[in-house]
Amino acid sequence: MIIAIDGPAGSGKSTTARLVAKNLGFIYVDTGAMYRAVTLSWLEQGKPNIADFIQDLPSITLGINAHTNEQQTFLNGIDVSKEIRGREVTEHVSYISSLKTVREKMVEMQRNIGNAQSVVMDGRDIGTAVFPKAHLKVFMVADIRERALRRLQEMKIQSMFPLPKLEDLMITMKQRDEYDSSREIDPLRQADDAILLDTSNLTIEDQALKIIELANSIHNF
Ligand code: CDP
Repeated sequence: MIIAIDGPAGSGKSTTARLVAKNLGFIYVDTGAMYRAVTLSWLEQGKPNIADFIQDLPSITLGINAHTNEQQTFLNGIDVSKEIRGREVTEHVSYISSLKTVREKMVEMQRNIGNAQSVVMDGRDIGTAVFPKAHLKVFMVADIRERALRRLQEMKIQSMFPLPKLEDLMITMKQRDEYDSSREIDPLRQADDAILLDTSNLTIEDQALKIIELANSIHNF
């Protein structure tokens, strides 16, 4: 069974998807982490010319931390799960993920993972491009201020100091959403058959429960 959760930055996709996967016994796949790892590689190489960079894309692999059950992201075999959350990666990830060759390679990996087991996959194009026939599609949205507040809270927990100002974070998140929504290949958008879930006034538990109930009501997979 494939559950696709898409939506803009900070809409609560990852936390919700992780809870849903845990409850249903599925694998959780954070596709944003894959694009972030490719971006980290480009930055580590000193921002080479894009034509050269895409000739020889790095190897990205995923694993699961046995203690925390969280996804681990490996770049050329090295665990970069923490590094990919950095400010510079966040600033450049929309650009790198708009490149056709990058998307083709990541989508192929994502399809291989989803074809092998039941997954909850979150991203921007899972319901529209990666798994257009997913059994359940959810498009999560939330008020921009609420999304920025959640992201700030996450940054505090991860000790990502200095913290940006709320207003500045709202601006950069909006810019990233606009870039992701207007790119040519597989832009961020709600699939016609996706269920819209506004999480502005919902707790993570409520969000997860709604999706679990929807998943449990599906019997034809
Ligand atoms: O967690 P956050 O909402 O900040 O973003 P993310 O899920 O880590 O994704 C980072 C970026 O990767 C997005 O802004 C998109 O540019 C890109 N992305 C994408 O193009 N397609 C996906 N399926 C997932 C992420």
